[in-house]
Amino acid sequence: MRVTQLKTSRFLLKSPVEEDDFDEITKIKSDPKVYRTQLYGQITTLEYCRFMFQHYITDARTLPARRKRWVFGIYPLEISPQFPKRKYIGNVGISKKTLSSETAHLFFEVSPDYWGLGVATECVSKAMEFAFQQGARKIVVDPMHGNEASKKVAIKLGFHDTGRSVPTYTGCLKHIYVFPKPKATKKIAG
Ligand SMILES: CC(C)(COP(=O)(O)OP(=O)(O)OC[C@H]1O[C@@H](n2cnc3c(N)ncnc32)[C@H](O)[C@@H]1OP(=O)(O)O)[C@@H](O)C(=O)NCCC(=O)NCCS
Repeated sequence: MRVTQLKTSRFLLKSPVEEDDFDEITKIKSDPKVYRTQLYGQITTLEYCRFMFQHYITDARTLPARRKRWVFGIYPLEISPQFPKRKYIGNVGISKKTLSSETAHLFFEVSPDYWGLGVATECVSKAMEFAFQQGARKIVVDPMHGNEASKKVAIKLGFHDTGRSVPTYTGCLKHIYVFPKPKATKKIAG
């Protein structure tokens, strides 16, 4: 098992997540405000959630040279009035379709208890740096139509709106935003 940890000013990003995070992950994914925006859809059974969760863990058992996906749990570094516990509050992940792909796809979700506090912007920015370190030359984020908060995160971080939409297997449309690898190593906004 390979543990990967990243830090932002307020959060630890850790892959894999902990077994103890399962209940919180289930709670977040079962919240209609969250699952309505996600392709995995409504969580109808605990087994469905366990299936996704299990992948978060088994990804970290893959040999580094063969790894295509990292899902980082987000944990506050310090206890504060906004973040009263150091528990899991969401995740940010990157994945590549194939090992040789130079495009990384970003996904993220934050507990509604912590929305609007800049958690996603801060953590997605860190995950982008990580994706470029892993060899990505382009990062894509593709929120569903109507997911204004997610679009806002992409725009704040400097993603380019391609103006393109693609249908998903559920029939809904996703809007494509891209961020090419910066020429010189420079910090991504956020
Ligand atoms: C998208 C999501 C991760 C954002 O998390 P967050 O930690 O609240 O994000 P941030 O605080 O960094 O930024 C959110 C921005 O969207 C804005 N926003 C929130 N709801 C919005 C809405 N309905 N319309 C327009 N802007 C909105 C916020 O005001 C904020 O912008 P600001 O900093 O300029 O005020 C969170 O809403 C979420 O988990 N949604 C469900 C899962 C999801 O959509 N995942 C992304 C799939 S691509």
